Amino acid sequence: MSFVSSRELLLRARAEHFAVGAFNVENMEMVQAVLEAASELRSPVLIQTTPGTLNYAPPRVFAGMVSRMAAAAPIPAALHLDHGDSFERARICAEEGYTSLMIDGSLLPFEENIALTKSVIEMAGDIPVEAELGTVGGKEDTHAAGISYTDPAQAEEFVARTGVFSLAPAIGTAHGVYKSEPKLDLARLEEIAARVPNPLVLHGTSGVPVDTVKACIERGISKVNYATDLRIAFTKAVEAWLAEHPGTIDPKKYLGAARQAVKARVEELIRLCGSEGKA
Ligand code: 13P
Repeated sequence: MSFVSSRELLLRARAEHFAVGAFNVENMEMVQAVLEAASELRSPVLIQTTPGTLNYAPPRVFAGMVSRMAAAAPIPAALHLDHGDSFERARICAEEGYTSLMIDGSLLPFEENIALTKSVIEMAGDIPVEAELGTVGGKEDTHAAGISYTDPAQAEEFVARTGVFSLAPAIGTAHGVYKSEPKLDLARLEEIAARVPNPLVLHGTSGVPVDTVKACIERGISKVNYATDLRIAFTKAVEAWLAEHPGTIDPKKYLGAARQAVKARVEELIRLCGSEGKA
């Protein structure tokens, strides 16, 4: 259907109590996998890239690929900057055609996070902006932190003062692979959702049990981020292919197998988000 802003997708998700999956991609095969899975399930979808990915291949590469491929897909898809690490990074992504931006000032003091977020919102114009308050734990690129839970009253103040479109609260998740089952503070999420009517974003979702993800969506989470899960699916499929087919020299063979594995995982996650049939 189209390459779109994340705005309408996430507003509808919040209003109708489902979530849109936001899938981190590293290359063309992962973009194809996400779009094919979403197309087959008639689901809206977000494709996102971290600063580390954009240091590897610049925003114009992903904006070019995703905008052209999404335009030919039968579902709406947005391209989001995940964990934008500077005003300049967000500006370049906006200029190159990203349709959704995150500015992550979560490691800054409260007032500085507000100031940075406001400056990006002003620059972004119509492009919706996500911010983070409190800190999601774990490591995403160079961004590493312990968990610092979001204070619901501060979340309300942050959204009111910045006018940010969506908010990622810290409720106990962490990026990367969990060493033990994460314990999420669902009561805190409920209180944040009661004070903040905007779309809420769950980071660090790989490894969070299915029922817990569903409980978060019921309580107002409308964008669910997955990175580690897809990286694992991709890499394991390449390893398995090369182990079974020693001597392979055609990258299409093992990358094709990886694409298939990522697509299968994305289909499961779209169903979990409840966005199947929403496009
Ligand atoms: P995971 O790596 O745990 O899936 O987290 C992804 C994420 O939150 C990206 O911002």
